[in-house]
Amino acid sequence: MRRPYLAGNWKMNLDRRAARELAGALGEYLEANPASKDIDVGVFPASVYLDEIVRTMGGSRLIVGAQNCCDEEAGAYTGEVSVAMLRDVGASSVILGHSERRHLYGEADELIGRKVSLALLGGLDVILCVGETQEEREGGATEGVVATQLRGGLEAVSASDMDRITIAYEPVWAIGTGLTASPDQAQAVHAYLRGLLSSLYTDEVADSVRIQYGGSVKPSNAVELLSMADIDGALVGGAALTPENFIPILEAGLAAAV
Ligand code: PGA
Repeated sequence: MRRPYLAGNWKMNLDRRAARELAGALGEYLEANPASKDIDVGVFPASVYLDEIVRTMGGSRLIVGAQNCCDEEAGAYTGEVSVAMLRDVGASSVILGHSERRHLYGEADELIGRKVSLALLGGLDVILCVGETQEEREGGATEGVVATQLRGGLEAVSASDMDRITIAYEPVWAIGTGLTASPDQAQAVHAYLRGLLSSLYTDEVADSVRIQYGGSVKPSNAVELLSMADIDGALVGGAALTPENFIPILEAGLAAAV
């Protein structure tokens, strides 16, 4: 049984006060609900607030991570933030290969693969995102696209590091659109990805890696999605921005944990 992992990708939202309040509310929820020890909960604030959120949440079980990192260790890379800097302010994880990075900022698999290896080397866990566009799905290319993204992202990752990797399947057409993959559609791709992990590594690795679903996850669809055999959690954008929406998603994760 894989431990459900629910993560909130805050993207470029929330100011300092709102970020602190949201993290505080989640921390209180975890504290007040001992059963929540059966799930992992992460928040991924804008990098400028990481330091403060980590310090506010010190001692809580909340995972605090970054939304991106540089593919170089240090030096003349204006505007970039290194893995070491993220570690320095206490981040423990990083989201890489998000479709907004791939499609709005032109990140390709090779660059993402380099970031993944640097992040692992520097001590960060990784959520590696993969997902097809609507056009790719309609053209029957979903499996080919996610396979290429998975292979590219994991290019330099050894089997022994796979316990620090979470995969997020996020169909691009479902992100921020209100359209959600049906539980069966999502399950089919998750099962395919798990099969691929088994051929790239071993059955044991494939069995233990968590694969989150992302794309318009909300309280009303979380229970159904999380009840699917190969859906081990969620990467949530819009619905992770308020405790009113995110906590019911955590509850859905808890229900799936038993
Ligand atoms: P969404 O975003 O939940 O707002 O669709 C998900 C994501 O991009 O991780």
